[in-house]
This record gives sequence, structure tokens and C-alpha cells, in this order.
Amino acid sequence: MSLYPGVALVTGAASGIGQATAVSFAKEGCSKIVIADRNDHGLEKTYSLIKDVASGCEVLAGNTDVSKAESVQSLVDKAVERFGRIDYVCNAAGVLSNNERSDATTLDEFDRINGINYRGCWMCSRAEIKQMLKQASLPTHDGRPGNRGSIVNIASQLGIVGRPAAPAYCGSKAAVISMTRCDAIDYSKDDIRVNCVCPGIIETPMTTPNMDVLGSAIAIAPMNRPGTAQEVADCVLFLCSSKASFVQGSALVVDGGYVIN
Ligand SMILES: NC(=O)c1ccc[n+]([C@@H]2O[C@H](COP(=O)([O-])OP(=O)(O)OC[C@H]3O[C@@H](n4cnc5c(N)ncnc54)[C@H](O)[C@@H]3O)[C@@H](O)[C@H]2O)c1
Repeated sequence: MSLYPGVALVTGAASGIGQATAVSFAKEGCSKIVIADRNDHGLEKTYSLIKDVASGCEVLAGNTDVSKAESVQSLVDKAVERFGRIDYVCNAAGVLSNNERSDATTLDEFDRINGINYRGCWMCSRAEIKQMLKQASLPTHDGRPGNRGSIVNIASQLGIVGRPAAPAYCGSKAAVISMTRCDAIDYSKDDIRVNCVCPGIIETPMTTPNMDVLGSAIAIAPMNRPGTAQEVADCVLFLCSSKASFVQGSALVVDGGYVIN
């Protein structure tokens, strides 16, 4: 039996970590996957990558802006209309830091970053939790009690430590970690698990244009290399699976050791 007999939903699925996660669900036997992003072109690419690895996989692609409540609700409504439930979530949609100190950060920039990274992630997880509360647990790979749903939010190592010129971004990711812990406390009694992953510097379209200037930041991590989107996706899939049935409210750091240095 697949570790993923239910329905997966991934935001930010048009690129990078979200795309690798969506394709990984397909590779690992999940046969119903919802992919959401505001980038239609990227979603088409993800759709075809999924079909390449699992031609029978049913995929629903939804243009979604996670900073807009109606867009988020419409995504969840369409997912449930098509597949009846939502079991495994990766909320990966996010934007980069504006790379300015607070005195040079405008309110608009602060609101844009937090509107997507924090408020957008919260709106997605809120809508997903509301659906999970309506559904029963699925059977698990070895018969242990299952969950009505498992959510993984993508935070960042920069939600744990700071770096120069990134208060809006670092704050947005610290908020995701804190929100994850609170939801984990609130929904444990409902058999819903909520965790987050804190990636270090990962080679994706978000960072690739700046890889040359990221060298000194990469060197902070003892492993001294950027991670891959696949290495993050693998951790997301573990947390979503019934093998992680006792993992609740964690902030799993996937950063080559950056935050320990
Ligand atoms: N790459 C890294 O080094 C790194 C490190 C730590 C955390 N992260 C986090 O990982 C997540 C994924 O980042 P990535 O590196 O894969 O970047 P990416 O740019 O490759 O992918 C991000 C995706 O989010 C989508 N997106 C942005 N705003 C959106 C919105 N309002 N509505 C819907 N979709 C939206 C983009 O279209 C894009 O497809 C982000 O939350 C990012 O903050 C990345």
C-alpha cells in the first residue's frame, strides 16, 4: 500500500520546492494531487512532470493567489469538489526578502512579503484545516491510528536566526513557525497534524539568480553547499506520511547545519 492513499495539495507548485514536492507525491504513489500557484506556465510544467512519472495520476491545477482569501477558498472548494477530501498539504508559496533594513522597507513591501509568506500561509492552512475537520482518517500503512490530515508549512532557517537586511522576510517566516506550533496544539485533539520545514539555502529559481553572492551565506553551514528542492521535498513527504504519526508542531530544519553554527 502507498504511504499516500489520500489527496495531496501543494501551493507554490509551479516552481522550486513546491514543484519538487508535487512531483515527489506522484513518484511515491499518491494518485490524486492538487497543484496551486499564481504562475500558470509553471503549473503546466509541473503537470507534465507529474504525468511523466505517473501517467495515471489525477492532477487538478488551480491558478491561485494565496494572498487573496477568495482565491484560497476557491482552491479548497475545487479540490474537495474534484477529490472529496484533502489529506497531505504542503504550503510552499512564498516570496523572497526585499533585502532592505527596516528604515528602508516601505509599508507596501512589508505587507506584500507578509501578505504572502505569513498571512497567505495562514489563510491556506485555515481553509485546509476546515476541510480536514469534516473528514475521517484514512487507513495507514501498518494499521496504526491515522490522521484526518497532515499539513506542512514551508518556513525557513531565517525564521529561526536572523540575517542582515531581511526583517520583513525573517519575521514572516518566524510567524509561520509560531503559527504552526499553535495550530498543532489546537488541532491535536482533532487528529490533524501541523508541522513546518525550515529550509536553508536551496537551489531554486528563487535563489539561483543570486547564487554567486550567496557563497558566504552558504559557507556558514558546515556542509558548505546549497541544498536541493528534492532534499526539502523528501522531508515534506515524510512529515505528511503516517510514518510521522507522532510528529506534531515540529520545525524540521533542512539546512546543512546552518543554524547550528
Ligand atoms: N530557496 C530557498 O533557499 C528557500 C529557503 C528557505 C525557505 N524557502 C521558502 O520555500 C518556499 C518555496 O520557495 P522556492 O525556493 O521553491 O521558490 P520559487 O520562487 O521557486 O517558488 C515559489 C513559488 O511560489 C509562488 N508564489 C509566490 N507568491 C504567490 C502567491 N501570492 N500565490 C500563489 N503562488 C505564489 C511562485 O509563483 C513560485 O512558483 C517559499 O515559501 C520560500 O520562502 C526557500
